[in-house]
Amino acid sequence: MIGTKRRAFLFCFFFLLPLLVGSCETIHTLFDPKERSFVSEPIFPQVQGSVEKRDRYELVGREFMIATDHPLASQAGVEVWKKGGNVVDVFSAASFAISVLRPHSTGLFGGGFAVLYFPKKGKWAYDFRERSPKKGTASFYLKPDGSANSEKILKGPYSVAVPGNVQGILKIQKQHGKLPLEEVLAPAMRYAKNGFSVYADLANAVTKVWPNMNPEMQKVFGIDNRPIREGELLVQEDLFQTFTRILDQEEKEWIDGETVKLVSQYYEGYDGFISEADWKEYQVKQLDPLVSSVWGHQILTMPPPSSGVHLVTMMHLYAEMMKRKSFPKGIVGESIQITEAMRVAFRDRAVLGGDPKFTEIPVTKLNSQAYIQEEVNQIEKKVVSGSWQEIQKPVEPKDSYNTTHISVLDKEGNAVSSTQSINGIFGAGQMVPGTGLVLNNTMDDFSIAPGIPNLYGLVGSKANAIAPGKTPLSSMSPSILLDPNGNTKLVIGAPGGSQIPTSIFNTLYHYLIQKRSLYESVSFPRIHHQYNPDTLFLDPELKGYFPESELPFYQVQYGRHRAKVFVVSKEGDKLIGVSDPKGEGVPLGF
Ligand code: DON
Repeated sequence: MIGTKRRAFLFCFFFLLPLLVGSCETIHTLFDPKERSFVSEPIFPQVQGSVEKRDRYELVGREFMIATDHPLASQAGVEVWKKGGNVVDVFSAASFAISVLRPHSTGLFGGGFAVLYFPKKGKWAYDFRERSPKKGTASFYLKPDGSANSEKILKGPYSVAVPGNVQGILKIQKQHGKLPLEEVLAPAMRYAKNGFSVYADLANAVTKVWPNMNPEMQKVFGIDNRPIREGELLVQEDLFQTFTRILDQEEKEWIDGETVKLVSQYYEGYDGFISEADWKEYQVKQLDPLVSSVWGHQILTMPPPSSGVHLVTMMHLYAEMMKRKSFPKGIVGESIQITEAMRVAFRDRAVLGGDPKFTEIPVTKLNSQAYIQEEVNQIEKKVVSGSWQEIQKPVEPKDSYNTTHISVLDKEGNAVSSTQSINGIFGAGQMVPGTGLVLNNTMDDFSIAPGIPNLYGLVGSKANAIAPGKTPLSSMSPSILLDPNGNTKLVIGAPGGSQIPTSIFNTLYHYLIQKRSLYESVSFPRIHHQYNPDTLFLDPELKGYFPESELPFYQVQYGRHRAKVFVVSKEGDKLIGVSDPKGEGVPLGF
């Protein structure tokens, strides 16, 4: 029940305030891109502090463009493009390179997703995410008293799932690339062999995880038994040798090669948790991208167990709210609509999300008009009546900067969008002796038990329960947008755990709806809600921007949105690349 004062406030807020907000009429036209000129200025005014670093993080070209989270990974892409490679060669070279350059974020022992679009050939989605080994069962992670052993699933040798990055990248490269593998692997092998200068983010990650690293890993990421420092040279000789074997043996190395043997030897000390049979059974899944028309564009995104479907639901829900007159307009009204769209989409994720081979995910229904309208009816009722649920105490998801994203686009509209990960910072904190491989901790992306949050504060249901051979639910949502004429408009994705879908939503919202420049759209302070905890997370710059008295029904928490967006868009004959200014990377191209 809400009090009379609050009811009066809500009435004034939702029915009188909108009448006073001048810009409200224009937003109804925003779905038709041809109506672009109707928008005189964005509803969200600019905030201080988000445009200074533009020169470094934005680049305009005409031939091709790549955006990644390390300058040398983008450079690897340029190198193979100049050798006559296509966007897939660029993606493959950058993927292998970033595995060397961001070992705390991704690597050969990780997994990922990729969405490809070639206007003259077709569209594809690849799932090369990690899978649970045969020994990975729900009971394996229970303590004798039946409670969940969250530590076992989060760190150490049992938090590791069977990796897919190598198989995935090799398969995509074989199917769609032009260059020999040698050329594509060359930059990564050079960076591993000759080393590169350690940057602040990597040095900080090494220092943070150092006490939990196994001795082999400390050997690689340490000098004189202490964490390697910023500016020092990181050489990864064993990783170079692993690359050499991949070059010689290709996929076979990842099925029954020397690397598999070394990993199996390591696991002899840990119940054979990942066995040789697990490597043999690993399959990359080739799928059709999930396609939906929304916000005047066609979005091609990754199907489940990615969160692409929930990103699309979020966009549809917002579009429906935008059409309804009953919803408040102006900054606060916009924020409520965005928050409610995120909350419903994350509720769906928590209840339904999982590996579609093991659980039914009603993808079509989740983006059908009937479903969207019904959900918006419920939100509308809640907003208009002010019957909000009790605010819960916020739980801050733990800090984490890892995973990585690569966006590539050429002037013909050929595009690759790929997100890859080892999950937490330095994954499991384990390295297999003699391989240079940092093991992922992706088992934690399963729901260990209903209602128990994972590293990102996300809860899941039985749909995402652990089972042998199963793929854990993921927030990674690599996407490509086409304009109304079917031309590639934008390639986008992000690392950032649960904040991945909302970082993409925020960026697309500012770019397509608010008509900001691409750079401003990436760097604009963000709004995030993930259903659980029931908290509205706002970037610190938005403090004072939303007087809290105007958002009385949300538990608001200020903190930096962790996700880093990497995006390339096409505007006329220009290709614009932006690497998120929160990261270390740059876009490169010409
Ligand atoms: O697939 C997932 O949802 C997570 N493994 C992604 C982790 C991540 O993005 C961490 N980044 N900060």
